[in-house]
Amino acid sequence: MSNLFYPNKEKFKAPLIKNMCEYKDLVDEFAKDYEGTWAKFADMKIDWFEKYHTILDESNAPFYKWFVGGKLNVAYQCVDRHLKTKKNKAAIIFEGDNGDQKILTYRELAYEVSKTANMLRNQFDIKKGDRVVIYMPMIPEAAVCMLACAKIGAIHSVVFGGFSAEALKDRIIDAEAKLVITSDGAYRKGKPYMLKPVVDEALKEGCECVKKVCIVERNGETIEWVAGRDYSYNELVKNESSFCESEIMESEDPLFLLYTSGSTGKPKGVQHSSAGYILWAQMTMEWVFDIKDNDTYWCTADVGWITGHTYIVYGPLAAGATTVMFEGVPTFPDAGRCWKMVEEYKINQFYTAPTAIRLLHKTGEHEPAKYDLSSLRVLGTVGEPIDPAAWSWYYNAIGGGKCSIVDTYWQTETGGHIISPLPAATPIKPSCATFPLPGIVAEIIDEAGNPTPIGEKGFMCVTKPWPSMIRNIWGDGDRFVKSYFGDCKKDGKPVYFTGDGAMIDEDGYITITGRTDDVINVSGHRMGTAEVESAIKKHSNVAAVAVVGKPHAIKGEGIFAYVVLKGEDTVTEEMQMVQEINSIIKKEIGAIALCDDVVFVPDLPKTRSGKIMRRILRAIAKGEPITQDTSTLEDPSIVGKIESIVNSCAL
Ligand code: PRX
Repeated sequence: MSNLFYPNKEKFKAPLIKNMCEYKDLVDEFAKDYEGTWAKFADMKIDWFEKYHTILDESNAPFYKWFVGGKLNVAYQCVDRHLKTKKNKAAIIFEGDNGDQKILTYRELAYEVSKTANMLRNQFDIKKGDRVVIYMPMIPEAAVCMLACAKIGAIHSVVFGGFSAEALKDRIIDAEAKLVITSDGAYRKGKPYMLKPVVDEALKEGCECVKKVCIVERNGETIEWVAGRDYSYNELVKNESSFCESEIMESEDPLFLLYTSGSTGKPKGVQHSSAGYILWAQMTMEWVFDIKDNDTYWCTADVGWITGHTYIVYGPLAAGATTVMFEGVPTFPDAGRCWKMVEEYKINQFYTAPTAIRLLHKTGEHEPAKYDLSSLRVLGTVGEPIDPAAWSWYYNAIGGGKCSIVDTYWQTETGGHIISPLPAATPIKPSCATFPLPGIVAEIIDEAGNPTPIGEKGFMCVTKPWPSMIRNIWGDGDRFVKSYFGDCKKDGKPVYFTGDGAMIDEDGYITITGRTDDVINVSGHRMGTAEVESAIKKHSNVAAVAVVGKPHAIKGEGIFAYVVLKGEDTVTEEMQMVQEINSIIKKEIGAIALCDDVVFVPDLPKTRSGKIMRRILRAIAKGEPITQDTSTLEDPSIVGKIESIVNSCAL
């Protein structure tokens, strides 16, 4: 085996999985007794109020149920149960954009969560099963509110603070949320920015389900208050008791919804369970990050994404770890910010996305050398494939050639990692997610369900249900079945298909090759082409549009739009039209979905039945030769015309 990087044994004193033999033993244990092994971990890791009677109920597949009959509370699992042994340990370390710090010990966190939970119950009449939308910046109150919902059995739906009012409104309506928790705003790059006005805009019409809005004060900027609807968190919470009884939850009670993009239609409300989700969040935290009691762990994601849910809030806290929450951006005040924080807090595990690594490499190649990064042990990456150049800089300049890089492959729907190296055990191949974690039966198969040969692309599937998997798409069971269990079968049975392609090599290492559907991965965030297209179509001058992904040096993929204008219009003011299109996207979705390239074309390549041939458009955007047969197109000459327009734009 060539090009392998072995774990530095000095760095790993007492890992849970020490070497590949132990990894294989664990995989074998699951193979011999799949359910029994999961039950062993569930018994070991979860503080059950009442034990489950059935490990896995497959009677209504693919609506699987795990640990049926079990009773627990996820906030109790993450906070209260630690009070016996860790009450003065830092649970959350917050660093603000401007460098302010705040530490919440487990005891303080327990108080805050209880007070907030009481406030939700008493002041907002939130009950078990009610949906609460959380639209917040990266401040500790975001985690506190998530946990407070869990404490009383409310289902939270966190919406990323970068989403627009329209996107927020769609999510509020779909979840039929009763309450929105937000903040006046926060700080970014030394300046205040606002969130509350976005909520006001979202609630203007169509959100009658929302009765109240609760506002956390962060930046103190002036906001408008709607009498009878808007309430100050800071005012209300201070009068609440710091004792709150945890709601007794069933294993399968939904813990949260998180909206994510699919290839078609509106974003899907991915619904996660309580027991299965928290079990895997905790187990992967311990296995993949080698979390030890004195460690300080930092994940740079935002709580608005699944990485923030599982690996800033739920996983670290369930494991009793110290988790860092950072409000700012990695390049402010300079590209050394993260490394300065690593030095100051003596961070042991650092978890980020390849897009951030590329940006920090490009803008601050020599910054890491200015700081003492020797506390680091595990470096994580997530969200998209990491390219060899970024991998090598991460490994050498940040890890000093001594840290294990865990390239964690997973999705909103999987709840936690499914393929990842184990830092003390797995010999790593750069840019390779390596092996399925024990308990996850991840297989690369072809259309007939057979394993794909070495070196050939296949469908990345998980062929057995596992505890932290998505349970449903909120309010749309049919879409759930079709989206995830409609494409791949094994032994005649539908299996979970991730939507990604993958390849296995001669040593059994798995490399993820990217989405097989029309989802674009922008800076590690999923963008559905249908969503972006329907935003662009709102421009009155647009007749048709198709968007595809195009490789981008920092973002991984950028958005490339082919736009057909209405009537005889020629584009006299292309720049203005591009600006208008992007401002519609900003309004409908948010700045994360802005197009990097917009080209105006006379028509799109369509089959005679009207299907847009995206593969051709993808190839043109990338400057690759067209290998598809174009003779079946309605107008084969359109391909050459589009190619010459794109070439002449010299994009
Ligand atoms: O295409 C895969 C890519 O990100 C998608 C999941 O996106 P999302 O649900 O937003 O969750 C992102 C954070 C977990 C996957 O379908 N992806 C995620 N991690 C990797 C990856 N692609 C390659 N390598 C990874 N490590």
